[in-house]
Amino acid sequence: MVARWRGRDIELKTPAEIDAMRAAGALVARTLVAITAKAEPGVSTGELNDLAEQTIREAGAEPSFLNYVGYPASICASVNEQIVHGIPSKAQVLADGDIVSIDCGAVLEGWHGDAAVTIAVGAVSEADLALSKTCEESMYAGVSAALVGNRLSDISHAIQNSIEAAAKRDGADYGIVAGFGGHGIGRQMHMDPFLPNFGDPGHGPRLRPGMALAIEPMVTAGDPDTIELDDGWTIVTADGKRAVHWEHTVAITEDGPKILTLPV
Ligand code: MF3
Ligand code: CO
Repeated sequence: MVARWRGRDIELKTPAEIDAMRAAGALVARTLVAITAKAEPGVSTGELNDLAEQTIREAGAEPSFLNYVGYPASICASVNEQIVHGIPSKAQVLADGDIVSIDCGAVLEGWHGDAAVTIAVGAVSEADLALSKTCEESMYAGVSAALVGNRLSDISHAIQNSIEAAAKRDGADYGIVAGFGGHGIGRQMHMDPFLPNFGDPGHGPRLRPGMALAIEPMVTAGDPDTIELDDGWTIVTADGKRAVHWEHTVAITEDGPKILTLPV
């Protein structure tokens, strides 16, 4: 989501409500697995969108992105230098060597799930694979910091640390996108709090059982500056270098972080 709120009213879910969110999250995960299997050279992002919408509706759920503040599709499909919020289309045909980030959300019985993966299409460069792995690992580093008693910015800091360590390992100069980040989630897709993907530890609200957060780092192969395209949605890197995006919806519980958007 766009960096918009700095609220302090964070919805707390009961264990039964977390279970309901898990059902929504499992559907999102299953949809992303189906999309990943279909995302090959020659397939359009519009076809991936149709598959997502069909999978979600057949499960008795609704695609939460469709018509969200006017968004015209059921998934975001962001190819290569597109970071997030790419609009899928039949005209955008995937080619060998592309990377495509698919962001998907569903609402099932009133509860939201939100997750994203970056998919390698055909044979992708080592550099792009390392970039995607960096982002995925940083997402899990953030998840590992989603502990009762930690503060919100401990998650941000864990994500940043992970990306900076990966940049050293890879001899790369990765960028962390600033204007977008994670968010609270529950009966709505975007709720308080906003969760930056970098920052000093020890700030923000204390994490409590029953909070649910979408953790979603975006990492660029170069400069982190972004541009919004004239379609009013697609966010691309200003320097034209490639970018990736991974996301899970996570519940904070006494037993540790519970990822709600893993496949069953
Ligand atoms: N996971 C994305 C986000 O939190 C979802 C974008 S939804 C859209 O920003 F509808 F705005 F595309
Ligand atoms: Co999200």
